[in-house]
Amino acid sequence: MESLSESPSKQEIELLPYGEKYHPYHNKYVDFWRQSLADPMRFWDERARELVWYRTWDRVLDDSNPPFYRWFVGGETNVNLNALDRWMNTHVANKVAYYWEGEDGTTRVLSYRDLFREVNKFARALQDLGVKPNDTVTIYLPMIPELPISMLAVTRIGGIHSVVFSGFSPSALADRIVDAKSRVLITADGYWRKGKVVELKKNADEGVRLAEERGAKVDKVIVVRRLGNQVAWNEGRDVWYHELVSKYPENTYVKPVPRKADDVLFILYTSGTTGKPKGIMHSVGGYMVYVYNVFKWNWDIRPEDVHWTMADVGWITGHTYIVYGPLLNGATEVMYEGAIDYPQPDRPWQIVERYGVTIFYTSPTALRMLRQYGDEWVKKHDLSTLRILGTVGEPINPDVWKWYFEVVGRGKCPIVDTWWMTETGAAMIAPAPGISLVQLKPGSATFPMPGIEADVLDESGKPTPPGVKGYLVIKRPWPGMLLGVWGDPERYVKTYWSRFPGYFYPGDYAVKDEEGYFWLLGRADEVLKVAGHRIGTAELEDTLIKHPAVAEAAVIGVPDPIKGEVPVAAVVLKAGYRPSEDLKKELIDMIRTNIGPIATPQAILFVSKLPKTRSGKIMRRLLKDIMEGRPLGDTTTLEDPTAVDELKRAWDEFK
Ligand code: PRX
Repeated sequence: MESLSESPSKQEIELLPYGEKYHPYHNKYVDFWRQSLADPMRFWDERARELVWYRTWDRVLDDSNPPFYRWFVGGETNVNLNALDRWMNTHVANKVAYYWEGEDGTTRVLSYRDLFREVNKFARALQDLGVKPNDTVTIYLPMIPELPISMLAVTRIGGIHSVVFSGFSPSALADRIVDAKSRVLITADGYWRKGKVVELKKNADEGVRLAEERGAKVDKVIVVRRLGNQVAWNEGRDVWYHELVSKYPENTYVKPVPRKADDVLFILYTSGTTGKPKGIMHSVGGYMVYVYNVFKWNWDIRPEDVHWTMADVGWITGHTYIVYGPLLNGATEVMYEGAIDYPQPDRPWQIVERYGVTIFYTSPTALRMLRQYGDEWVKKHDLSTLRILGTVGEPINPDVWKWYFEVVGRGKCPIVDTWWMTETGAAMIAPAPGISLVQLKPGSATFPMPGIEADVLDESGKPTPPGVKGYLVIKRPWPGMLLGVWGDPERYVKTYWSRFPGYFYPGDYAVKDEEGYFWLLGRADEVLKVAGHRIGTAELEDTLIKHPAVAEAAVIGVPDPIKGEVPVAAVVLKAGYRPSEDLKKELIDMIRTNIGPIATPQAILFVSKLPKTRSGKIMRRLLKDIMEGRPLGDTTTLEDPTAVDELKRAWDEFK
């Protein structure tokens, strides 16, 4: 096996004219990837040995009880050992860990040493509050340094964090507190969003109230003072973060609690096709090994790099590429609090210029939005420090890819399109300039990462011929894979391992071309990607039917030029209720308070019936055809064909 340090990419990455047939290092990558699959246990064993462990593993992979694969069994470690402690006796200690910028222009710079101190003080504080190994702590924080600090403090003492995106509603927060059985919540007074104060503590209070109504018991709410806005205070339950940590001396040291490699590191909730969001569990050892390596491979990370993932830590992208990936690699990361076009559409480019960002990672939605404002905003800034650009979250349109490559990257930066999901821990199909760069094709995520074997199958489970669309599958376990679904092992088996037995099923359409490149084509199920955020249509439908006026609801995703897709709801009212603008507003408000503003439907269409088969199944395909203006296929199985005309009329009226 070729060692990573000798890989050609350690030389300067060359200019990448993507029209050229082959990149000079193309085959190097493909060879490396092949070798990784030839002896995967040795491959992952070597990768894991680059990190610090309290005890090395007895076996790289325990596959005796599939699909409950367990990595590095017998091994013991703590992610803090590798993300913080091991840097303390090196030059990295004084290196910048985070350049933080608030939306209002406030800045903070934290070195690895600063971070280490903060984490230790807070870890001790959490211990003194009674948090024990395996306790879950819910973190509902905006994009401020206390978010990674809290995550690390919790994992340092052997706890499990569950981060809830700060844009989620009190009700969504409550569901997650209840499901995770958290007795401690970490939140903030407020934060800036598009120049307005978001009163987060108010949402947190309401979330805790609802959680307790739903059976939870929250003992402590720790509040970070970000804005100094007025907050309600619950004596005995609420504590200020700054008052808590100031009790401890700067040199407070808490030994990172040894954790088994297959213990739970964190839970992160994500939407599926049915029911409430599920708690995806990631492991202490496997996640750490995978994320450390993939971060290095994706970004060819070097000591002088300034990496910026323009995403929220409330999503997996932030967990992996703002917190654990950079820190495990001793890299410098940028963290930005606010809206990407506030106060002006060049905010991201200003940040790139200010901190000398070398690697920039964002979503196609953000790029479509920024492109729409015009190239002048980009060209106003010196972006010459950039050397690699990344994208994640949804398929990237080839024209957006080219704009990114040419206008933002000045034709000099490879585009690292990373396909992955909450469940996979880190990128699965993506270029890996840290090993060696393949020839890129605009819109393709290229090849699987080392150690990953992927394929595209048809309905019956046979590989599709080149160019034919099918279902993406991952054909063997990998260290970054989820441990399971919190509290619901059956759902884990059913969702991911039953569609094609023996293979992991992500739920995406894909196509492989003649040269083996993977092209990801979006979700194959009832999950939407709205501005890159994952939203289950079932969640929206379940919310809508809670309204006393609603008899039935069907939600589908409709293409949107900026957000990729947006939800549209068709609603049937109960007898005695009439459609009205007020009712529409009530339904939209319900979604906003039950889930959050990101799930707001673009349209609510009132109809007297939904197109259903004779057996009573809603024909979503028809709904989609109508709204995307496609000719309707076979409608003979419809129970009542007039349902289609009515829907068409309602949709035309809305447009
Ligand atoms: O449909 C795929 C899409 O995002 C889904 C996973 O969403 P989530 O768990 O929220 O994680 C997003 C960030 C990793 C996938 O099932 N997706 C993600 N990245 C890409 C993508 N689709 C196409 N191309 C990508 N690069």
